[in-house]
Amino acid sequence: MRRPFVAGNWKMHGTRAENADLIEALLLGVPAQPTAEIAVCPPFVYLWEAARQLKASSVSLGAQSVCAESIGAFTGEVSAAMLKDVGCRYVIVGHSERRALYKEDDALVARKFLAAQSQGLTPILCVGESLDERERGQTMQVVSRQLTAVLDLAGIKAMQDAVVAYEPVWAIGTGKNATPAQAQEVHAHIRAEVAARDGKIAAALRILYGGSVKAGNAREIFSMQDVDGGLIGGASLKVDEFLKICAAAQAH
Ligand code: PGA
Repeated sequence: MRRPFVAGNWKMHGTRAENADLIEALLLGVPAQPTAEIAVCPPFVYLWEAARQLKASSVSLGAQSVCAESIGAFTGEVSAAMLKDVGCRYVIVGHSERRALYKEDDALVARKFLAAQSQGLTPILCVGESLDERERGQTMQVVSRQLTAVLDLAGIKAMQDAVVAYEPVWAIGTGKNATPAQAQEVHAHIRAEVAARDGKIAAALRILYGGSVKAGNAREIFSMQDVDGGLIGGASLKVDEFLKICAAAQAH
């Protein structure tokens, strides 16, 4: 039985005051024992304050990226140890915005994944194809390549403490979500790739869907066999929407 997981990726949004209000409202709305595990991923500079607010709550904290190096002269970077130090449990690695805008390739994403785990953080590994790749029929190939880079470097056992998020690039922030069937097809493929190395680990692996998830489509998408929750961008900034999305996540 995989416990569903809903994580909010706040991206580069918010102020101290807005974040505090958002977390306060979230904590008021979250049931004492939520079905889904819930996490929020604010920008780096707000993590510490968010950690203090979330302390003793059922909501976990995650970061949106991490440096692949552990310490030293890396101006502007934030290490996994620092994220752990301020109270993070999760960190997103390989988000398509980082792959596309900051030229993070598969090898770097795999190193970030390892860096996160080396400090006891659980990486949320994002994979997904662009519209062009989907139209050329390359979806499975792209997702396999992104996944294999991590599996080859970190080893299959590393997937015991990791989450995968399938995020088709064409669905992110566009209002155009993948259909439940499209999501299921890729999620099943991801699980099969992992199962080829270890069936037990694959069966326990949580695979989230991300890309224009809203209160109105979450239930349908999350009802698919291999969809274990969602990575939520825009809708995670609206507390009512986010809470409805959390409520829509059911265990498989
Ligand atoms: P979206 O973003 O929900 O705004 O489409 C998802 C993501 O980028 O993680």
